[in-house]
Amino acid sequence: MLNLLLLLLLCLSSFLSSLPQVQSATLPSDIYVLKALKASIKPNSISPWSCLGSWNFSIDPCSLPRRTSFICGVSCSPDSTRVTSLVLDPVRYSGTLTPLISQLTQLTQLDLSENSFYGPIPSSLSSLAKLETLSLRSNFFTGTIPSSLTKLASLVSLDFSNNALTGLLPVTLSSLSGLTTMDLSFNKLTGSLPKLPPNLVNLALKANSLSGSLSPSSFQGLTQLEVVELGANRFTGAVQAWFFLIPSLQQFDLSNNSFTSIEIQKLGNTKNSNLVAVDLGFNRIEGYLPVNLATFPQMASLTLRYNRFRGPIPWEYYKKVSNQSLRRLFLDGNFLNGKPPAGFFSTGSGSSVAGSFGYNCLESCPASSQLCLPSQKPTSVCRKVYGGRTSP
Ligand SMILES: *[C@@H]1O[C@H](CO)[C@@H](O)[C@H](O)[C@H]1NC(C)=O
Ligand SMILES: *[C@@H]1O[C@H](CO)[C@@H](O)[C@H](O)[C@H]1NC(C)=O
Repeated sequence: MLNLLLLLLLCLSSFLSSLPQVQSATLPSDIYVLKALKASIKPNSISPWSCLGSWNFSIDPCSLPRRTSFICGVSCSPDSTRVTSLVLDPVRYSGTLTPLISQLTQLTQLDLSENSFYGPIPSSLSSLAKLETLSLRSNFFTGTIPSSLTKLASLVSLDFSNNALTGLLPVTLSSLSGLTTMDLSFNKLTGSLPKLPPNLVNLALKANSLSGSLSPSSFQGLTQLEVVELGANRFTGAVQAWFFLIPSLQQFDLSNNSFTSIEIQKLGNTKNSNLVAVDLGFNRIEGYLPVNLATFPQMASLTLRYNRFRGPIPWEYYKKVSNQSLRRLFLDGNFLNGKPPAGFFSTGSGSSVAGSFGYNCLESCPASSQLCLPSQKPTSVCRKVYGGRTSP
């Protein structure tokens, strides 16, 4: 009985699959764009085993089932008429990105990361009204970021990191009201920070040539911002209290810039702050170590290395270590003097912190402690800084 049923099912299914395809097919203009996309890529960079290698236009791109053609790189709408996603494999396809891509108006995802695309980012991308994810990460795109892209009202995630983009950030950047993640790190962007998109959670602009000072107007109204990476740029001026108090801020990296001061004498209430990690290393910051930094309840990692700080290591920093909050403390490469709090070098609480006090002007930093490596600056250097005295 069961066998008979199975046989019947088999017959039925083979009959169904022998019927002519009534399924709808890809919109001709979408096929045209896919052809143009493939045609703008050097054939010798398309291996037969890659996604693009499987794109055979004698077969409809969206119609199912797929066997040997369009097995990857493209996804379509449920009715198989429109291309909704282009995610190419990272196999170093080399070519330009055709401006015709703007005709794939149902596209929600465009990801060409880790290939060898070069030339400009087409400004026509701004027509992709449904685009949520745009990643051109790790290619060789040049030219500026088209300001028209700030019209992409559905955009949630933008990643142009590791290209060779130049010029300014679009002044209208803040109109990207749905954007939560933006990574433009490792390009050649210049100019100052404009007003930022209001719902950003992650901001990364590492390793560009951005300059100017941090202005509250850039960050105004950003209540979701958790991670800020602005390291290895040319920012100058003061890092002020408002920056430390950005409402949701958890970690920031402002290292390898040219900041000259931290102005947080009047910091205000830090009780509700989520700030966990601060990196201000490799700047030109002068003055005493800010005692206030120890008032952030969650602070776990503090890097102030290679600046021009003077004076003693605050006892409050040690207290933050002894109450198990602070785990990393890098203060090396400054002009700190006096005796560091002895607790740092006791076997109990002191050993729970990783970091360095090396290459300062400290007295009695025991060589037996990892924290005291590398050794302190030559006395002659410290004398010059402290006018003959190395003690406070
Ligand atoms: C493309 O598909 C057609 C139809 O199935 C087939 O005859 C042809 O050999 C394919 N071309 C390539 C390059 O695989
Ligand atoms: C910052 O500069 C230091 C010293 O030049 C270098 O070792 C480090 O890799 C740089 N960090 C970044 C993020 O560029």
